[in-house]
Amino acid sequence: MKFPSPPLPRALRRSPPKPGRDERRNGGRNGAPATKPTPKEQAVEGAASVVGWLDERTGTSPFLRGFLYRKVPKGTNWYYTLGSATMFAFLSQAVTGVFLAMYYEPDPSRAYESASRITNEVFLGEFVRGMHRWGSTVMIILIFLHMGRTFFFGAYKYPRELNWVIGVVLVVLTLMMGLTGYLLPFDQRSFWATVVAVNLNASGPIVGPYLADFLRVGSEFGPTTISRFYALHMLAVPGLIAALIGAHLYLVAKLGTTAPPWLKAEKKDLLREEV
Ligand code: HEM
Repeated sequence: MKFPSPPLPRALRRSPPKPGRDERRNGGRNGAPATKPTPKEQAVEGAASVVGWLDERTGTSPFLRGFLYRKVPKGTNWYYTLGSATMFAFLSQAVTGVFLAMYYEPDPSRAYESASRITNEVFLGEFVRGMHRWGSTVMIILIFLHMGRTFFFGAYKYPRELNWVIGVVLVVLTLMMGLTGYLLPFDQRSFWATVVAVNLNASGPIVGPYLADFLRVGSEFGPTTISRFYALHMLAVPGLIAALIGAHLYLVAKLGTTAPPWLKAEKKDLLREEV
């Protein structure tokens, strides 16, 4: 079913001409001198004309309206915010990661030193590194909570199976971010924990040994292993995650969200009563 597109938010709409204001602008009553619009009026006009300029050339407003103004089922509650919370955790990881990449050196002889320098010398380095470290745990907790919500609400069923499958790939990729990031501080703990994790991968059936060789860049940890982990951690995996989040959100907007299961149960009871 197609709903009529809702209007643009009030802040972005040109307000209808007000007699007092227009008179002030156009020279006032009886030819009195014009007064300037207030800074607030100027800011609103400015924003509206920038939005209008962009919209005229790109035609994005119907798309954005359809994407942002959606009917949600009755009974939608706080559990439905877990998907967006996961997305914000990912965005926070992306932003803090960019700042860390400005100082981090993915070289076995420099990695530990550069990470320590971020913590001890770089302005706000300890804070940003802490955000990135704790943010990774937060994202993993949130993604599993969101997965649990969609599972227990039956949101994986027809027609949302593809979104569930995309979600499963997102979980695997998020865990890969954790694995590839853990090696980067290159201290004793991160090094040996990664050796153990890659050996576990190697014991997997059929693809396990190949996967481990791919991660180590050979049969042993070597000088290029850290570059491989770094490239996966800051380019390949987050790129894939960003693309899949785009597909996931497209499907959420297209299919809508599922009503909580207890509402369906109530509806069935009602139907039974009516019969
Ligand atoms: C980076 C990871 C993820 C992000 C950013 C994300 C984002 C979202 C958002 C914003 C929604 C709509 C609001 C909501 O229901 O919370 C949603 C819905 C959904 N997500 Fe995710 N999600 C992620 C991972 C997952 C995972 C791991 C699964 C399952 C394996 C999953 C399955 C679903 C399903 C089935 C829906 C539809 C829910 C419904 O119809 O009620 N998502 N996701």
